[in-house]
Amino acid sequence: MKTVSAQDMRAIERVAFETFSLPGHLLMENAGRVLADETISFLKDIRRGDRHVAVLCGAGNNGGDGLVAARYLYNRGFATHLFLMKPHEHFTADAAANYQRARAAGIDATIYTVGTLFRDYDIIVDALLGTGTRNTVTGIYRDAIGGINSSGRPVIAADIPSGLDADSGGVLGEAVHATVTVTMGLAKQGLVAEDAREFVGKLVVADIGLPRQLLR
Ligand SMILES: NC(=O)c1ccc[n+]([C@@H]2O[C@H](COP(=O)([O-])OP(=O)(O)OC[C@H]3O[C@@H](n4cnc5c(N)ncnc54)[C@H](OP(=O)(O)O)[C@@H]3O)[C@@H](O)[C@H]2O)c1
Repeated sequence: MKTVSAQDMRAIERVAFETFSLPGHLLMENAGRVLADETISFLKDIRRGDRHVAVLCGAGNNGGDGLVAARYLYNRGFATHLFLMKPHEHFTADAAANYQRARAAGIDATIYTVGTLFRDYDIIVDALLGTGTRNTVTGIYRDAIGGINSSGRPVIAADIPSGLDADSGGVLGEAVHATVTVTMGLAKQGLVAEDAREFVGKLVVADIGLPRQLLR
């Protein structure tokens, strides 16, 4: 399996835009859709009752993937709730646009508060932190990671489990134990590190529409 560093991936996304006219928001739409598909396929397997989905979103583009996924989940009839780490005014432009789309669609959203429990949800989508994670995870992000891990629920992680270093696979203080990790375009090199295995779970490499010339 080909793997890339976070820096390699940023370079690939830049070329996707500059040479292939594929802007970040289009890749984000594709990423969120695949994330929703993987979540739904997992829900079908476990056949739980009401199928309530919690989608936890950070303020960066990883959160944007989660906001798109929430829209597809909601459209397909799943009770979907967004937990946001910051007010949407602090989101990246692409994530903020997807926040607006999700809200316009009618999806419930609340700002995450410390100590939130996720036992009422059948599955959790982790879109807190991706390749933009810097240094040790602190504050409400760390609290949310703890909340996800103590929920006992299956977790579908967007791109990388939050709190895992995309390059080394090391834990940046605390990391999500994912059931499935849907990594976007190409696997991030940290995901295949031996020590990362228990956090990554099943690894799915998602087709987000990157041209094949960039995947070789
Ligand atoms: N654009 C594209 O082409 C594209 C395509 C596919 C997928 N994606 C997705 O975008 C992700 C990368 O997005 P991104 O570069 O915006 O980064 P990100 O992974 O979303 O992380 C950035 C956010 O995390 C916060 N953060 C970083 N380190 C932290 C720490 N140690 N503790 C608490 N908060 C922390 C930052 O807050 P501060 O700003 O306050 O530091 C910022 O809000 C990928 O992993 C993937 O999921 C992007």
